[in-house]
Amino acid sequence: MCGIVGYTGSRQAAPILIDGLSKLEYRGYDSAGICVHGEDGLNVVKAKGRLQILSDKTAGGNEVQGVVGIGHTRWATHGAPSDHNSHPHLSASGKIALVHNGIIENEARLREELLAKGITFASETDTEVVASMLGIYYDECGDLIAAIRKTVARLEGSYALGILCVDDPDRIVAVKKNSPLIFGFGQGENYIASDVPAILKHTQTVAYLNDGEMAVFDANSVQFFDGNGNPIVKTREQITWSISAAERGGFEHFMLKEIFEQPKALRDTIGPRLKDGKVVLEGIDLSADYLKGLNKICFVACGSAYYAAGVAKYILEKYCRITTEIMMASEFRYCDPVLDEKTLVIAVSQSGETADTLEAVREAKRRGAKTLGIINVVGSAIAKAADQTIYTCAGPEIAVATTKGYTTQLAVIYLLTMHIAQALGKVDADTYAGWVAALERLPEQVEDLLSQDRIDQIKSFAQRLTRHNNAFYIGRNLDGAVCLEGSLKLKEVAYIHSECYPAGELKHGPLSLIEDGYMVVALATIRELFDKTVANVREVRARGADVLCVTLEELAAEAKKQAQNVIAVPSTDPMIQPSLNIIPMQLLGYYIAVNRGCDVDKPRNLAKSVTVE
Ligand code: AGP
Repeated sequence: MCGIVGYTGSRQAAPILIDGLSKLEYRGYDSAGICVHGEDGLNVVKAKGRLQILSDKTAGGNEVQGVVGIGHTRWATHGAPSDHNSHPHLSASGKIALVHNGIIENEARLREELLAKGITFASETDTEVVASMLGIYYDECGDLIAAIRKTVARLEGSYALGILCVDDPDRIVAVKKNSPLIFGFGQGENYIASDVPAILKHTQTVAYLNDGEMAVFDANSVQFFDGNGNPIVKTREQITWSISAAERGGFEHFMLKEIFEQPKALRDTIGPRLKDGKVVLEGIDLSADYLKGLNKICFVACGSAYYAAGVAKYILEKYCRITTEIMMASEFRYCDPVLDEKTLVIAVSQSGETADTLEAVREAKRRGAKTLGIINVVGSAIAKAADQTIYTCAGPEIAVATTKGYTTQLAVIYLLTMHIAQALGKVDADTYAGWVAALERLPEQVEDLLSQDRIDQIKSFAQRLTRHNNAFYIGRNLDGAVCLEGSLKLKEVAYIHSECYPAGELKHGPLSLIEDGYMVVALATIRELFDKTVANVREVRARGADVLCVTLEELAAEAKKQAQNVIAVPSTDPMIQPSLNIIPMQLLGYYIAVNRGCDVDKPRNLAKSVTVE
């Protein structure tokens, strides 16, 4: 869950590396470092804390001279955030410097082996072990590429490595397994990075490295090799989105920008898949015969993606009458899941990199299930691992807290539900046409929910609710599923202890916690269940809770009789209603976090891509 970048060309490397790292901070931000080939050898500068500290220490990189370099932004796994644990790490000889994204699982054994050889370590990191082992192999054979091959053959786990060698001042070597790495082709300069935004300013032509592949490059040339050391030709891909998509563009935070990008993200995700009043999932093979033979659908995902799957369970079971399980991917592998070739396993992931979800897909395949990914990042590890992938078209999501990632996942889940319901003959023409119309209307309705009046209203509720340190989110059925995501937004960005319960479950225990100083967000947008949820609102209010009720416009007057604060959302088809309901909850979490002075885009202890299990 770190970000790496590398540059070789004729410009000064350090400012380019620091700028590139600034686009990767979402991957980790507890320390950063660079290494540049200077006239006097490898020049390493590192700093604990945000990238800005490294930038200040080097005057934006201008104080570090040299045209070839590598950089790293870290999310600690081995050893606390500190200067000495920051990357790049040097081999014991000081001849090799490397940056690493991933986790070396057999690090302890390798460390012991090296300690026995008399190697000492300056850090607690797995990365330094790799650097030292590479240093030893290099000293033995004097051939950097051979030494790298020998080193990576000994590594278990995941890595994307950027490597410099003091004896080879023009070249960078990059190699990867289970961690993302892209190569960027420039004019008289070349790049590597963990993700496109880091180099998009300089080039839109990239190649995605596959597991085992290596890139050996200088400013003017690159050679790619497969895992066996054979030269290969990589396809050059053009990035179609622009740099502005990866920048804040006048918004105070990426999270707010991404909330506002939801209408476009939804249009991009839904538009091309609705043709002549029908769902068309191009390139996806889910035939009626195959679907009729399924015994169940099983979703695997983490965090918000898991909560999107929670919505899927309700609607697939209701509208397709197909058993649907949802499993946290981190639990899936270890619970001996019941699946076979008649099970469709659907992995949901914005990044496509989440280690738990990736491993769940692999486990599902081992057990004979067919796998389908709902993924945002094209060419990511999960997209490659799954048998088929439907992409959400959210564009780059930078804020650690997902917003447009989640709503586009919901959009794909609706499309899938519609496809399956029709293939299984479970939906009549009118209902289906209603779904299509509701999906077509959705981006505009989300736009309305982002109007200035509504934002001002949510800001004023956020102002009032900011003082609370404890929250409950309650709702029934689909409203409950959406509350889970609302509650997660509040806790991850505003650091407020927040629990989510099905409204009817509250009285079976958690109600004992409710007292003055608690806030309760009640979602009540399902007409048939409205009275019941409002009864629960009455119960928590009677015990001192400060209640915000989110309900439909036509039910708002009734809700106001019970809740101190009411937000009204427009109504749509019940299946699609979750997509409207989540918008005020995202905004509420955001504005409360801002009021509390939290680091909204980079909440403490978290990272955007969780590539460790
Ligand atoms: C969401 O706001 C979180 N940051 C987190 O729960 C996230 O959804 C989860 O880690 C899964 O990520 P993925 O969608 O990239 O797999």
